[in-house]
Amino acid sequence: MKVLFRRSTDSVPRVLGTSSPAVEARDLRRTFRSRSGVWRRTSTEVEAVKGVSFEIAPGELFGLLGPNGAGKTTTIKMLITLLIPTSGSATVLGRDVVTDVREVRSRIGYVFGGDRGLYERLTGLDNLRYFSELYGVPPREQKERIGSLLELVGLTGREGEKVEGYSRGMRQRLHIARGLLHDPDVFFLDEPSIGIDPVGARELRATVAGLREQGKTVLLTTHYMFEADELCDRIAVIRAGEIVAEGTPAQLKGLVSAGRVLEVETYGVAEPEVAAVREVPGVRTATVEERGQTQVLVIACEPDAEVTTQVLARLQDTRVGRVSHREPTLEDAYVELVTRVDA
Ligand SMILES: Nc1ncnc2c1ncn2[C@@H]1O[C@H](COP(=O)(O)OP(=O)(O)OP(=O)(O)O)[C@@H](O)[C@H]1O
Ligand SMILES: [Mg+2]
Repeated sequence: MKVLFRRSTDSVPRVLGTSSPAVEARDLRRTFRSRSGVWRRTSTEVEAVKGVSFEIAPGELFGLLGPNGAGKTTTIKMLITLLIPTSGSATVLGRDVVTDVREVRSRIGYVFGGDRGLYERLTGLDNLRYFSELYGVPPREQKERIGSLLELVGLTGREGEKVEGYSRGMRQRLHIARGLLHDPDVFFLDEPSIGIDPVGARELRATVAGLREQGKTVLLTTHYMFEADELCDRIAVIRAGEIVAEGTPAQLKGLVSAGRVLEVETYGVAEPEVAAVREVPGVRTATVEERGQTQVLVIACEPDAEVTTQVLARLQDTRVGRVSHREPTLEDAYVELVTRVDA
């Protein structure tokens, strides 16, 4: 593998022992206070992050998954020094995110999904040149670095075009290149593939995989489970501000693979029937997925023929189509983790 950048020497240790994590969060908490009402001011508190701890090893691609409002962005903002934790602590490359803000910032890069901040009238290349100046990339290194980055994000050959003509996927890849100009060791990507079509998303995944090959440590959030499955070495699932599971994609799938997934095609299944299915002993979760003309009841359950019989008995008043079993996917594991009532 070609070495992307020449390393400059500075005070931050570049080579970490295998035991020191690249990112470490210890019992991070963040509460937001918001005021509402004109006459009677009421103050409400939202506990966005409630004691999150995890470690990311150098060179690891770590996924943070969770439903809307779970606290992913808040966690990332604390790690990239944009928000101060209410309590707890975190380090990036051994530096504290509250007390060593400058050093942390010089070693990290980040991209948020739907990011703005590119100059539309300029070409991709001129955007990167401009941000290189801004980030203080030494002039003699600029050309080579921009060239390598264009290669990494797959924009070589398109850099002479104005950004206004770029597709959303191309813009997002240019954002990633911009975020990497100062050669950070740790990169944070918050929903980079949001709103990008399947082809663009595939190219973006290749770019993210390329970051890992370059030896970067990456924290990624996404709502696309296959994306997380394909890219992540390890995943933490966060729900209502707390981590509810952590492991490799295979380990997370293992949480549901003690059972199997039963899929029942239906035509117009009603909520009371779904609720009745959830009551069947051996059924862990039951959710409805719209697939064209049919609603497919996706049931995580024990691998037991009796469960299938009982489920079908509860669906007597519904038109039922094909019934099948399959192995659990990461999405099944995720749905189970974030919808489980006892979690
Ligand atoms: N600046 C803020 N002021 C008040 N509440 C906030 C603020 N930022 C976030 N919150 C609240 O904190 C909680 C967590 O939000 P956060 O943006 O971290 O979630 P998320 O996991 O990134 O969700 P999504 O998947 O939708 O991006 C939510 O309830 C949100 O409304
Ligand atoms: Mg978010």
